[in-house]
Amino acid sequence: MNLIPLKGRVFQAVPGFEHYLRAELGSPLELGGPFFYSPDYTGPALWNRNVWLEPFRLEFDSIGEAARVLRSLQRNWAPVLFTQFRRGALIKEKLPSLNANPRPFPWLLPDSPMGGWTLLDNHTLLASAKSESPFPGGIIHFEEDKQGPPSRAYLKLEEALVRCRKWPLPGERCLDAGASPGGWTWVLAKLGAEVIAVDRSPPEDRILARPGVRFIRHDAFTLKPEDLGPLDWVFSDVVCYPPRLLEWIKKWLESGLCANFICTIKLQGEPDFETLRDFAALPGGRVVHLYHNKHELTWLRIAP
Ligand SMILES: C[S@@+](CC[C@H](N)C(=O)[O-])C[C@H]1O[C@@H](n2cnc3c(N)ncnc32)[C@H](O)[C@@H]1O
Repeated sequence: MNLIPLKGRVFQAVPGFEHYLRAELGSPLELGGPFFYSPDYTGPALWNRNVWLEPFRLEFDSIGEAARVLRSLQRNWAPVLFTQFRRGALIKEKLPSLNANPRPFPWLLPDSPMGGWTLLDNHTLLASAKSESPFPGGIIHFEEDKQGPPSRAYLKLEEALVRCRKWPLPGERCLDAGASPGGWTWVLAKLGAEVIAVDRSPPEDRILARPGVRFIRHDAFTLKPEDLGPLDWVFSDVVCYPPRLLEWIKKWLESGLCANFICTIKLQGEPDFETLRDFAALPGGRVVHLYHNKHELTWLRIAP
Protein backbone atom coordinates (compact mmCIF):
# COMPACT_ATOMS: atom_id res chain seq x y z
CA MET A 1 0.00 0.00 0.00
CA ASN A 2 1.31 3.41 -0.95
CA LEU A 3 -0.56 6.69 -0.35
CA ILE A 4 0.82 9.64 -2.33
CA PRO A 5 -0.60 13.14 -1.63
CA LEU A 6 -0.90 15.25 -4.80
CA LYS A 7 -0.16 18.96 -4.97
CA GLY A 8 -3.00 21.16 -6.29
CA ARG A 9 -6.55 20.13 -7.09
CA VAL A 10 -8.39 17.56 -9.17
CA PHE A 11 -11.36 18.86 -11.17
CA GLN A 12 -14.39 16.79 -12.15
CA ALA A 13 -15.78 18.14 -15.42
CA VAL A 14 -19.45 18.71 -16.16
CA PRO A 15 -20.40 16.21 -18.90
CA GLY A 16 -20.51 18.12 -22.21
CA PHE A 17 -18.50 21.06 -20.86
CA GLU A 18 -15.05 19.44 -20.68
CA HIS A 19 -13.72 21.94 -23.24
CA TYR A 20 -14.63 24.87 -20.96
CA LEU A 21 -12.76 23.29 -18.04
CA ARG A 22 -9.76 22.65 -20.31
CA ALA A 23 -9.78 26.30 -21.40
CA GLU A 24 -10.16 27.49 -17.82
CA LEU A 25 -7.26 25.46 -16.46
CA GLY A 26 -4.77 26.08 -19.28
CA SER A 27 -3.11 22.76 -19.95
CA PRO A 28 -4.39 20.33 -17.33
CA LEU A 29 -3.37 16.72 -17.17
CA GLU A 30 -6.28 14.51 -18.23
CA LEU A 31 -6.52 11.60 -15.83
CA GLY A 32 -9.34 9.77 -17.59
CA GLY A 33 -13.13 10.08 -17.49
CA PRO A 34 -14.20 13.46 -16.14
CA PHE A 35 -11.00 14.06 -14.16
CA PHE A 36 -8.53 16.84 -14.89
CA TYR A 37 -5.52 17.56 -12.73
CA SER A 38 -3.73 20.82 -12.31
CA PRO A 39 -0.97 21.09 -9.70
CA ASP A 40 -0.55 24.87 -10.19
CA TYR A 41 -3.94 26.37 -11.05
CA THR A 42 -4.94 28.75 -8.27
CA GLY A 43 -7.72 30.71 -10.01
CA PRO A 44 -11.44 30.33 -9.38
CA ALA A 45 -12.89 26.97 -10.35
CA LEU A 46 -16.02 27.56 -12.43
CA TRP A 47 -16.80 24.86 -14.98
CA ASN A 48 -16.81 21.77 -12.85
CA ARG A 49 -19.20 19.43 -11.13
CA ASN A 50 -16.81 19.12 -8.23
CA VAL A 51 -13.27 19.99 -7.15
CA TRP A 52 -11.22 17.60 -5.08
CA LEU A 53 -9.29 19.81 -2.71
CA GLU A 54 -6.82 17.40 -1.10
CA PRO A 55 -6.23 14.73 -3.71
CA PHE A 56 -4.11 11.65 -3.20
CA ARG A 57 -3.25 8.52 -5.11
CA LEU A 58 -3.47 5.18 -3.38
CA GLU A 59 -1.71 2.16 -4.76
CA PHE A 60 -3.45 -0.80 -3.17
CA ASP A 61 -3.13 -4.58 -3.25
CA SER A 62 -6.68 -5.68 -2.44
CA ILE A 63 -10.23 -4.37 -2.47
CA GLY A 64 -10.39 -4.76 1.31
CA GLU A 65 -7.25 -2.67 1.72
CA ALA A 66 -8.54 0.15 -0.50
CA ALA A 67 -11.81 0.33 1.47
CA ARG A 68 -10.00 0.12 4.81
CA VAL A 69 -7.77 3.09 3.96
CA LEU A 70 -10.74 5.24 2.91
CA ARG A 71 -12.77 4.25 5.99
CA SER A 72 -9.85 5.13 8.25
CA LEU A 73 -9.92 8.70 6.91
CA GLN A 74 -13.66 9.51 7.28
CA ARG A 75 -17.19 8.17 6.80
CA ASN A 76 -18.48 9.67 3.55
CA TRP A 77 -16.98 8.53 0.26
CA ALA A 78 -18.77 8.94 -3.06
CA PRO A 79 -17.52 6.89 -6.02
CA VAL A 80 -17.20 8.55 -9.43
CA LEU A 81 -16.20 5.64 -11.65
CA PHE A 82 -15.30 5.80 -15.33
CA THR A 83 -13.44 2.47 -15.56
CA GLN A 84 -12.97 -0.65 -13.38
CA PHE A 85 -16.70 -0.67 -12.61
CA ARG A 86 -16.82 -4.19 -11.13
CA ARG A 87 -13.84 -3.59 -8.86
CA GLY A 88 -15.26 -0.18 -7.93
CA ALA A 89 -18.61 -1.75 -6.98
CA LEU A 90 -16.80 -4.21 -4.67
CA ILE A 91 -14.94 -1.38 -2.92
CA LYS A 92 -18.17 0.61 -2.62
CA GLU A 93 -19.88 -2.36 -0.91
CA LYS A 94 -17.25 -2.21 1.83
CA LEU A 95 -17.78 1.49 2.52
CA PRO A 96 -20.60 3.06 4.60
CA SER A 97 -23.59 3.57 2.31
CA LEU A 98 -24.67 7.03 1.17
CA ASN A 99 -28.32 7.98 0.86
CA ALA A 100 -29.00 8.60 -2.83
CA ASN A 101 -32.78 9.14 -2.46
CA PRO A 102 -34.33 12.32 -3.81
CA ARG A 103 -34.38 14.95 -1.06
CA PRO A 104 -37.31 17.04 0.09
CA PHE A 105 -37.04 20.82 0.02
CA PRO A 106 -36.03 22.51 2.22
CA TRP A 107 -33.47 20.01 3.46
CA LEU A 108 -30.73 20.90 5.90
CA LEU A 109 -27.58 19.41 4.49
CA PRO A 110 -25.36 17.80 7.13
CA ASP A 111 -22.00 19.53 7.36
CA SER A 112 -19.90 16.36 7.51
CA PRO A 113 -17.29 16.33 4.70
CA MET A 114 -18.06 14.49 1.49
CA GLY A 115 -15.11 12.68 -0.05
CA GLY A 116 -14.79 11.40 -3.58
CA TRP A 117 -12.88 8.52 -5.15
CA THR A 118 -12.34 6.82 -8.46
CA LEU A 119 -10.16 4.07 -9.89
CA LEU A 120 -7.44 4.87 -12.41
CA ASP A 121 -6.59 1.19 -12.93
CA ASN A 122 -7.11 -2.05 -11.00
CA HIS A 123 -4.55 -1.16 -8.31
CA THR A 124 -4.67 2.67 -8.26
CA LEU A 125 -7.29 4.76 -6.58
CA LEU A 126 -7.54 8.54 -6.80
CA ALA A 127 -9.41 10.23 -3.95
CA SER A 128 -9.89 13.31 -1.81
CA ALA A 129 -11.47 13.49 1.63
CA LYS A 130 -12.43 17.13 1.05
CA SER A 131 -14.30 18.40 -1.97
CA GLU A 132 -15.96 21.65 -2.98
CA SER A 133 -19.43 20.22 -3.63
CA PRO A 134 -21.22 18.91 -0.53
CA PHE A 135 -23.20 16.46 -2.70
CA PRO A 136 -21.98 12.92 -3.48
CA GLY A 137 -20.16 13.16 -6.81
CA GLY A 138 -21.52 16.72 -7.12
CA ILE A 139 -25.03 15.36 -7.74
CA ILE A 140 -28.28 16.09 -5.90
CA HIS A 141 -31.80 15.00 -6.77
CA PHE A 142 -34.93 16.53 -5.27
CA GLU A 143 -38.40 15.14 -4.84
CA GLU A 144 -40.10 16.70 -7.84
CA ASP A 145 -43.46 18.43 -7.85
CA LYS A 146 -45.06 17.93 -11.28
CA GLN A 147 -48.13 20.06 -10.53
CA GLY A 148 -47.11 23.12 -8.49
CA PRO A 149 -44.27 24.85 -10.33
CA PRO A 150 -44.77 25.96 -13.94
CA SER A 151 -41.27 24.89 -15.06
CA ARG A 152 -38.33 22.83 -13.82
CA ALA A 153 -36.25 25.97 -13.19
CA TYR A 154 -37.29 25.72 -9.52
CA LEU A 155 -34.86 22.81 -9.04
CA LYS A 156 -31.78 24.99 -9.48
CA LEU A 157 -33.02 27.47 -6.89
CA GLU A 158 -33.71 24.63 -4.44
CA GLU A 159 -30.21 23.27 -5.08
CA ALA A 160 -28.59 26.68 -4.57
CA LEU A 161 -30.45 27.26 -1.29
CA VAL A 162 -29.69 23.78 0.06
CA ARG A 163 -26.05 24.21 -0.91
CA CYS A 164 -25.94 27.52 1.00
CA ARG A 165 -27.68 25.86 3.98
CA LYS A 166 -29.90 28.94 4.17
CA TRP A 167 -33.21 29.99 2.63
CA PRO A 168 -35.71 32.83 3.02
CA LEU A 169 -37.65 32.74 6.27
CA PRO A 170 -41.39 33.51 6.45
CA GLY A 171 -41.93 37.22 5.91
CA GLU A 172 -38.47 37.93 4.46
CA ARG A 173 -38.51 40.31 1.48
CA CYS A 174 -37.25 38.85 -1.78
CA LEU A 175 -36.81 40.25 -5.27
CA ASP A 176 -37.25 37.63 -8.01
CA ALA A 177 -35.90 39.27 -11.17
CA GLY A 178 -36.87 37.54 -14.42
CA ALA A 179 -39.56 35.67 -12.51
CA SER A 180 -41.82 34.31 -15.26
CA PRO A 181 -43.33 31.77 -15.64
CA GLY A 182 -42.87 31.61 -11.86
CA GLY A 183 -40.87 28.57 -10.70
CA TRP A 184 -38.54 30.50 -8.37
CA THR A 185 -41.42 32.65 -7.08
CA TRP A 186 -43.30 29.41 -6.34
CA VAL A 187 -40.39 28.13 -4.21
CA LEU A 188 -40.07 31.43 -2.34
CA ALA A 189 -43.81 31.86 -1.73
CA LYS A 190 -44.01 28.29 -0.43
CA LEU A 191 -41.35 29.20 2.13
CA GLY A 192 -43.65 32.03 3.28
CA ALA A 193 -41.47 34.84 1.92
CA GLU A 194 -42.77 38.17 0.55
CA VAL A 195 -41.89 38.05 -3.16
CA ILE A 196 -41.59 40.98 -5.54
CA ALA A 197 -41.65 39.23 -8.91
CA VAL A 198 -40.26 41.43 -11.70
CA ASP A 199 -40.48 40.50 -15.36
CA ARG A 200 -41.50 41.94 -18.71
CA SER A 201 -44.31 39.39 -18.85
CA PRO A 202 -46.36 38.14 -15.92
CA PRO A 203 -45.94 34.81 -14.16
CA GLU A 204 -48.79 32.33 -14.39
CA ASP A 205 -52.01 33.43 -12.63
CA ARG A 206 -51.88 30.62 -10.07
CA ILE A 207 -48.39 31.82 -9.06
CA LEU A 208 -49.58 35.43 -8.78
CA ALA A 209 -52.50 34.24 -6.64
CA ARG A 210 -50.17 32.82 -3.96
CA PRO A 211 -50.07 34.78 -0.70
CA GLY A 212 -47.12 37.16 -0.45
CA VAL A 213 -46.54 37.52 -4.20
CA ARG A 214 -46.57 40.96 -5.89
CA PHE A 215 -45.80 41.42 -9.59
CA ILE A 216 -44.10 44.44 -11.17
CA ARG A 217 -43.98 44.52 -14.97
CA HIS A 218 -40.61 46.16 -15.56
CA ASP A 219 -37.11 45.79 -16.90
CA ALA A 220 -35.36 44.44 -13.80
CA PHE A 221 -32.18 46.32 -14.67
CA THR A 222 -33.78 49.75 -14.73
CA LEU A 223 -35.34 49.28 -11.28
CA LYS A 224 -32.97 50.89 -8.81
CA PRO A 225 -32.22 49.31 -5.42
CA GLU A 226 -33.56 52.51 -3.78
CA ASP A 227 -36.89 52.02 -5.62
CA LEU A 228 -37.41 48.73 -3.79
CA GLY A 229 -35.78 49.51 -0.44
CA PRO A 230 -34.08 47.01 1.89
CA LEU A 231 -34.45 43.38 0.90
CA ASP A 232 -33.36 40.13 2.52
CA TRP A 233 -32.69 38.35 -0.76
CA VAL A 234 -32.09 39.26 -4.39
CA PHE A 235 -32.65 36.49 -6.93
CA SER A 236 -32.13 36.76 -10.66
CA ASP A 237 -32.76 34.25 -13.42
CA VAL A 238 -32.94 36.94 -16.12
CA VAL A 239 -31.75 35.90 -19.57
CA CYS A 240 -29.18 38.58 -20.41
CA TYR A 241 -25.54 39.15 -21.30
CA PRO A 242 -23.34 38.50 -18.24
CA PRO A 243 -21.79 42.02 -18.15
CA ARG A 244 -25.30 43.50 -17.78
CA LEU A 245 -26.01 41.28 -14.78
CA LEU A 246 -22.60 42.05 -13.28
CA GLU A 247 -23.17 45.79 -13.51
CA TRP A 248 -26.61 45.42 -11.87
CA ILE A 249 -25.24 43.26 -9.03
CA LYS A 250 -22.52 45.84 -8.38
CA LYS A 251 -25.24 48.49 -7.94
CA TRP A 252 -26.99 46.29 -5.39
CA LEU A 253 -23.75 45.64 -3.52
CA GLU A 254 -22.89 49.35 -3.47
CA SER A 255 -26.39 50.18 -2.16
CA GLY A 256 -25.91 47.93 0.88
CA LEU A 257 -29.65 47.21 0.71
CA CYS A 258 -29.37 43.42 0.48
CA ALA A 259 -26.98 40.79 1.82
CA ASN A 260 -28.08 37.55 0.16
CA PHE A 261 -27.93 36.94 -3.58
CA ILE A 262 -28.50 34.01 -5.93
CA CYS A 263 -28.15 34.92 -9.61
CA THR A 264 -27.95 32.77 -12.72
CA ILE A 265 -25.26 33.81 -15.20
CA LYS A 266 -26.68 32.75 -18.59
CA LEU A 267 -24.23 32.12 -21.39
CA GLN A 268 -24.63 32.33 -25.13
CA GLY A 269 -21.85 30.72 -27.12
CA GLU A 270 -18.32 30.46 -25.74
CA PRO A 271 -17.96 31.92 -22.24
CA ASP A 272 -16.13 35.18 -21.71
CA PHE A 273 -13.80 34.01 -18.95
CA GLU A 274 -12.77 37.55 -18.01
CA THR A 275 -16.33 38.51 -17.05
CA LEU A 276 -16.81 35.20 -15.22
CA ARG A 277 -13.65 35.87 -13.21
CA ASP A 278 -15.05 39.34 -12.37
CA PHE A 279 -18.14 37.62 -10.95
CA ALA A 280 -15.95 35.24 -8.93
CA ALA A 281 -13.98 38.21 -7.57
CA LEU A 282 -17.04 40.04 -6.21
CA PRO A 283 -16.51 40.31 -2.45
CA GLY A 284 -18.03 37.53 -0.40
CA GLY A 285 -19.39 35.62 -3.38
CA ARG A 286 -18.57 32.60 -5.49
CA VAL A 287 -19.48 31.14 -8.83
CA VAL A 288 -20.59 27.52 -9.13
CA HIS A 289 -22.01 25.24 -11.75
CA LEU A 290 -25.02 23.66 -10.07
CA TYR A 291 -26.03 20.13 -10.93
CA HIS A 292 -29.28 21.64 -12.27
CA ASN A 293 -27.51 24.35 -14.31
CA LYS A 294 -27.19 23.78 -18.03
CA HIS A 295 -25.25 26.29 -20.17
CA GLU A 296 -25.11 28.70 -17.26
CA LEU A 297 -23.39 29.28 -13.93
CA THR A 298 -24.69 30.60 -10.62
CA TRP A 299 -23.28 33.45 -8.57
CA LEU A 300 -23.98 33.02 -4.85
CA ARG A 301 -23.38 35.45 -2.03
CA ILE A 302 -24.82 34.65 1.35
CA ALA A 303 -24.49 36.75 4.48
CA PRO A 304 -22.44 34.91 7.12
C1 LIG B 1 -35.34 31.65 -17.63
S1 LIG B 1 -36.72 32.66 -17.48
C2 LIG B 1 -36.94 32.67 -15.74
C3 LIG B 1 -37.56 31.42 -15.20
C4 LIG B 1 -38.02 31.57 -13.78
N1 LIG B 1 -36.92 31.75 -12.85
C5 LIG B 1 -38.84 30.39 -13.33
O1 LIG B 1 -38.43 29.71 -12.37
O2 LIG B 1 -39.92 30.14 -13.88
C6 LIG B 1 -36.09 34.24 -17.79
C7 LIG B 1 -37.06 35.38 -17.66
O3 LIG B 1 -36.31 36.60 -17.73
C8 LIG B 1 -37.19 37.58 -18.26
N2 LIG B 1 -36.41 38.76 -18.66
C9 LIG B 1 -35.52 38.88 -19.68
N3 LIG B 1 -34.97 40.12 -19.65
C10 LIG B 1 -35.51 40.78 -18.59
C11 LIG B 1 -35.34 42.06 -18.02
N4 LIG B 1 -34.47 42.93 -18.54
N5 LIG B 1 -36.06 42.38 -16.93
C12 LIG B 1 -36.94 41.50 -16.39
N6 LIG B 1 -37.13 40.26 -16.88
C13 LIG B 1 -36.44 39.91 -17.96
C14 LIG B 1 -37.89 36.85 -19.39
O4 LIG B 1 -39.10 37.50 -19.70
C15 LIG B 1 -38.09 35.46 -18.76
O5 LIG B 1 -39.39 35.36 -18.20
